[in-house]
Amino acid sequence: MLIALFPGDGIGPEIVAQAKRVLDALGVDGLTYEDGLVGGAAYKALGHPLPPVTLDLARRADAILFGAVGDPDCDSLERHLRPEQAILGLRKALGLFSNLRPAKVFPELADESALKPEVARAIDLLIVRETNGDVYFGEKGFRTTADGLREGYDVMSYDEGEVRRIAHSGFQAARARRGKLCSVDKANVLETSQLWRDVVIEVAAEYPDVALSHMYVDNAAMQLVRNPGQFDVIVTGNMFGDILSDQASMCVGSIGMLASATLNEGRQGLYEPIHGSAPDIAGQGKANPLATILSAAMMLRYSLDLPEQADRIEKAVAKALADGARSADLGGAMTTVEMGDAVLAVL
Ligand code: IPM
Ligand code: MG
Repeated sequence: MLIALFPGDGIGPEIVAQAKRVLDALGVDGLTYEDGLVGGAAYKALGHPLPPVTLDLARRADAILFGAVGDPDCDSLERHLRPEQAILGLRKALGLFSNLRPAKVFPELADESALKPEVARAIDLLIVRETNGDVYFGEKGFRTTADGLREGYDVMSYDEGEVRRIAHSGFQAARARRGKLCSVDKANVLETSQLWRDVVIEVAAEYPDVALSHMYVDNAAMQLVRNPGQFDVIVTGNMFGDILSDQASMCVGSIGMLASATLNEGRQGLYEPIHGSAPDIAGQGKANPLATILSAAMMLRYSLDLPEQADRIEKAVAKALADGARSADLGGAMTTVEMGDAVLAVL
């Protein structure tokens, strides 16, 4: 099985290197790796954030382990050449529409949460975020109004097929967990959301065992800090899911802890921490590699059909934390490599 390693920019190479060490330590037969350039690193070397050679490797791979993209040097490039286009382009080109972002508190980290520890301790939720449509991929541009003012626009839309397939992801995830699905939209204002809600209700007929509720996104943001323990699975669109998942990360303690999987209709998936490239700490050995290590565990589970190995990684991370492993974002002083060492020591 072929794993494409796309470390990307900023802290990406440091954190992916630790995840690779952990994968190597498992000693699984038959895994091969190929490296590819993405993001600002790819732009600087090859003139494009997602060059054809990288896209070709992505298509051939069974799974992609991705670091992060984003580079301040590239912020003034035309949008289609910016580092972020690498991840957006991969999601679109490979049909990776179902982005799973679990947020669960490790008991030892409850004090790191931005919430009161007793509120944080109850968090065990999964955000199922659509990643092929929405305002991210609609028509966009700049124009001039009739009054001569500059105007920017980005069209938000979902067709019913797009909503239906992510709704199925949400219901199936809920069925495999505690059987509760909360669909988050803004149907009180947006037609896109009204269609979203109508279609989710239609799909619900196929899942009588799942309890469906609906919430407006502003209320969901509030409930996520007020009483996050009420959520099991949240299914939502691309933009709302982007925002709520960053929020969920601080509820569990640190954005350095949240892993993600983005799946297509087959088994192929892209695995990445939900955080960005953190250019301010790049190359300093300060980044927490656990989100990437936990993403590698999701890769073993969802794309490589190696659930026992996935469990081993997740248990090793939990034990390393219980034994006191703490990077700077978790209030400690351990380096990226030392955090990797701590997980390896348990394995
Ligand atoms: C994420 C990131 C990306 C997104 C960026 C880097 C384009 O924030 O994966 O959450 O907005 O989807
Ligand atoms: Mg984001």
